[in-house]
Amino acid sequence: MQGKNLFVAVIGILSFISQSNAIVSVENFFPFGITNGDSYLASGDDTSSPQQMLSTPFNFFNYSHTSLWVNVNGAISFVNPISTYTPKCAPVPRNFSMISPFWADVDTQAETPTPSNGISFRESTTSRDLLQAKNEVLYAFPDLHDINFTWSYIITWNNVTFYRDDPSRRIRNTFQAILTTNGQHSFAIFYYNVIQWTTGTASNGNANGLGGTPAQVGFDAGDGVNRAMLSVSCTNNVVNIGSMSNVGKPGVFVFQIDSVEIITPPPNITRPTQTPKPPSDPRSNAVGTECSSDVSKAWLDVVFVVDTSNAMSSRDLLELSGEIATFMKPFTFGQNGNHTTRAAIITYATNVNTKYNLTDVTTFSAFQSAIFKLHNYANPDDNGGNVQGGLQAALTLLETQKSFRKRAIILIAAAYDDVGFQGAYQTSKTIQDDGISILTISFAASDGILTQQLQNISSPGYAYTSDQDGLYISLPFALTQINCFCPPSSIQFKLYNSLWGNYTTYADCLYGFNGDTLPSIATLSCDPGVLISATTAQKLDFISDYLVPHDIKSKKYTIGLHRSDDGTWKWWGYNNTEYALGSYPSWGQNPSPDDSYSYEWQYSGFNIKLMPSGDVPLPYACQSRACDAGYICDLTQP
Ligand SMILES: *[C@@H]1O[C@H](CO)[C@@H](O)[C@H](O)[C@H]1NC(C)=O
Ligand SMILES: *[C@@H]1O[C@H](CO)[C@@H](O)[C@H](O)[C@H]1NC(C)=O
Ligand SMILES: *[C@@H]1O[C@H](CO)[C@@H](O)[C@H](O)[C@H]1NC(C)=O
Ligand SMILES: *[C@@H]1O[C@H](CO)[C@@H](O)[C@H](O)[C@H]1NC(C)=O
Ligand SMILES: *[C@@H]1O[C@H](CO)[C@@H](O)[C@H](O)[C@H]1NC(C)=O
Ligand SMILES: *[C@@H]1O[C@H](CO)[C@@H](O)[C@H](O)[C@H]1NC(C)=O
Ligand SMILES: *[C@@H]1O[C@H](CO)[C@@H](O)[C@H](O)[C@H]1NC(C)=O
Ligand SMILES: *[C@@H]1O[C@H](CO)[C@@H](O)[C@H](O)[C@H]1NC(C)=O
Ligand SMILES: *[C@@H]1O[C@H](CO)[C@@H](O)[C@H](O)[C@H]1NC(C)=O
Ligand SMILES: *[C@@H]1O[C@H](CO)[C@@H](O)[C@H](O)[C@H]1NC(C)=O
Repeated sequence: MQGKNLFVAVIGILSFISQSNAIVSVENFFPFGITNGDSYLASGDDTSSPQQMLSTPFNFFNYSHTSLWVNVNGAISFVNPISTYTPKCAPVPRNFSMISPFWADVDTQAETPTPSNGISFRESTTSRDLLQAKNEVLYAFPDLHDINFTWSYIITWNNVTFYRDDPSRRIRNTFQAILTTNGQHSFAIFYYNVIQWTTGTASNGNANGLGGTPAQVGFDAGDGVNRAMLSVSCTNNVVNIGSMSNVGKPGVFVFQIDSVEIITPPPNITRPTQTPKPPSDPRSNAVGTECSSDVSKAWLDVVFVVDTSNAMSSRDLLELSGEIATFMKPFTFGQNGNHTTRAAIITYATNVNTKYNLTDVTTFSAFQSAIFKLHNYANPDDNGGNVQGGLQAALTLLETQKSFRKRAIILIAAAYDDVGFQGAYQTSKTIQDDGISILTISFAASDGILTQQLQNISSPGYAYTSDQDGLYISLPFALTQINCFCPPSSIQFKLYNSLWGNYTTYADCLYGFNGDTLPSIATLSCDPGVLISATTAQKLDFISDYLVPHDIKSKKYTIGLHRSDDGTWKWWGYNNTEYALGSYPSWGQNPSPDDSYSYEWQYSGFNIKLMPSGDVPLPYACQSRACDAGYICDLTQP
């Protein structure tokens, strides 16, 4: 016995105190929580999970275990549940065979587990988790060269506080322990995110959870002999564990734990520089797919309709030429090529003249020369403002010289003319019904009537004044958003900004089908799109308000959230891609292992729940990628 005591090891660690903020971010944890298949440990003080049977035996200190307990107090045990809240900090008796990622008096009795706090765990054999385990272990032990794990167990203490639990207390710890094995060799990985306390008040800790008997971190075979503890275990310095490591990555610890001796990674070796995990997919929490704002790739036919009555001096026209040339410069001008724009110029006073037409367009410089001729067209003796005629001429030009491009008219007016505006409102409606957008620029912003009348003619959100700040940025941007559109048989997702009175359009075209269809088949029927994603409340509201009454007409409909091959829940992205379920929505009912699909259920009024399901037929909602500056779509598709 005496000799064996030599195995009582103190594990040396490297610390990175200078990088005290360098911890493992929760995004780099193994995925956890209900949406990743975890079970929650019921709220409690000094409690434990029921005995968890393991599908693969787990070797620990040369003992093979077939079950384990997850204990609230930051420990995993193999022989008994452990309710002891003050860490022993000395060899423990039989029955305390345990792994302590952070054994201290965690208390969750006053908090219901949610995605933002609580203890959760799962046994996992998904390739995703096994691969992350392999990456960590091979980084720590490069000499293993290759090892394939068959089993893992992931336990997460998320945002937990100390005895006595106070839900309003902000002093919290978040850490994760992963056990993994290839059936023979087994390993433990500890990840520390936030560690702010070390001791419960019943272990002589103070009101901030420090002092007293601080947390124990390490391994004990429970045989009174074999144990290995970190050097900071049971010291006040354990609060800094998030900035320490035994592999050179702050907050990460890896151990081989199957044999009588706990093996720590070799310290002084060159480890490969790891390519950091890509940031989580921005699509997971995006409102919708953003429309491209790449002006240089826009494909538009734009007709300028310019007031050349006596309200515009030739000096005003020169100034206007400069403004137009400035905001049109970033576009790629041309007749040929998918991502090219054409622009025409029409002038109006009493009479209307086409000065430069869409088929005239060659390069930006040619257009610039044409626009700088505007001051030659000034009519100091003509007070007519034939807006109605100007709009009609623009429509005619866009119809007779039609191309595949999205169409817009930019009307610039300097005075209101009762006669000239007659019928203009009606014409503007006809034009907009044809899918052509109208932008207006009031060149005499102080003329209230003019500005108001132009607002009436413009497409919603597209009335400007020539003196407004940043017009040379907002106009090209607006044109790219106009270039983002959906085929007529679908509904474009857009949101009204009440603050500015304009819309944010998204590159998502929504459509749906009322017939009951298996989710496994609906996925194919959405072609060229995919089953819809509803990653935000705004998008779900839009779907409920516009798509459901229009196409789906059912209180239940299948959406794109599905169980992916790696076992996690994902949305479909365009182009056969997938992306993880983000922070929205949460389940109205927890998925069972048999569930692979999901549907929205408008169960009462405007109350909607996300429900898991098997392959059960329902109406379904789809979305396809809108056409925009970055994407030339197939307009013949739905
Ligand atoms: C490990 O366990 C095996 C089987 O129980 C035993 O034969 C072996 O001697 C043990 N090894 C050590 C170093 O105790
Ligand atoms: C160890 O646990 C077993 C099973 O729970 C129990 O029967 C036994 O009394 C315990 N031994 C000690 C020393 O606590
Ligand atoms: C941690 O849990 C507390 C109590 O439930 C909660 O108020 C807080 O927002 C949580 N913090 C985070 C970062 O989720
Ligand atoms: C681990 O899996 C990879 C990929 O399947 C395989 O190429 C390799 O041979 C495996 N290694 C071992 C040690 O089984
Ligand atoms: C590791 O390298 C450091 C610095 O070169 C040295 O001080 C330390 O003694 C080495 N440790 C071991 C275990 O070789
Ligand atoms: C307009 O287009 C026609 C061809 O459709 C062309 O002949 C004419 O020269 C163009 N230019 C003007 C200023 O009308
Ligand atoms: C727009 O103009 C038309 C025709 O003059 C008029 O009937 C309508 O009420 C106006 N709308 C607004 C919002 O001013
Ligand atoms: C809506 O108006 C705001 C404020 O003027 C502007 O920043 C934003 O770009 C506008 N959106 C569109 C799509 O034009
Ligand atoms: C799909 O991917 C191809 C190749 O990367 C790309 O050209 C195309 O625009 C993508 N389509 C969509 C809908 O994103
Ligand atoms: C233009 O876009 C269409 C549809 O995406 C494509 O088939 C065609 O090859 C493109 N033409 C050029 C010149 O890029």
